[in-house]
Amino acid sequence: MTEREIKFKLQVFASAAELSASDAALVRAAKKSLTAAYAPYSHFRVAAAILLENGEVVTGANQENASFPAGICAEGTALSVASSLYPGVPVKKIAITAKSQTNKTDHPIAPCGICRQRLLEYEYRFNTNIEIIMTGEEGEVYSVKTVKDLLPLNFSGLEL
Ligand code: THU
Repeated sequence: MTEREIKFKLQVFASAAELSASDAALVRAAKKSLTAAYAPYSHFRVAAAILLENGEVVTGANQENASFPAGICAEGTALSVASSLYPGVPVKKIAITAKSQTNKTDHPIAPCGICRQRLLEYEYRFNTNIEIIMTGEEGEVYSVKTVKDLLPLNFSGLEL
C-alpha cells in the first residue's frame, strides 16, 4: 500500500479590497445579483457572476422551490444563463457570494458538491480552467484556479 497526498493551492485575500480591479468588479456584480435570489425557505441568498472568455459578465442567483430538491443554486442559474445567452463561449471565472437573512456571512461561501460538478463540466467541455472566487458578505476571500482543486478524483465524461 502506498499513500498519495493530493494538494491544492488556495489563494486567501484578507478582504475583497485586496482583489484586482477586475476581480473586485466581478464580485460586485455577484453581490448586486443577490436581489435576484428567491430564497423564502432557507432565507440564504446566494449569487454568482461569471466572466466569459468574450469579456461578457452574466449573473445568477438561487431560485428555491417548495419541493426543496427542485430549487436551483446560484452557480447553476448563472451557468445556464451563460450558455443560453452565449452558447459555445468558455467560462473564465466565477465569483460567488451569499447573504443570510438571519446571520452575518463573514467567511467565503464555497460551491456545493453538485455545483462543483456542474462547473467541472464546463472545464472539460471547453478544455479550460475556471477560476472560482469565493466571498461572503465580509471577511476573507478565497480563490482557486481550477474547479479540479475543489473536486479531486473527479468523475468526468472521459469515463463514459
Ligand atoms: N446554494 C447555492 O445557491 N449555491 C451553493 O453552492 C450552495 C447552496 C443555495 C441553495 C439553497 O437555495 C440555499 O443556498 C440554501 O442551501
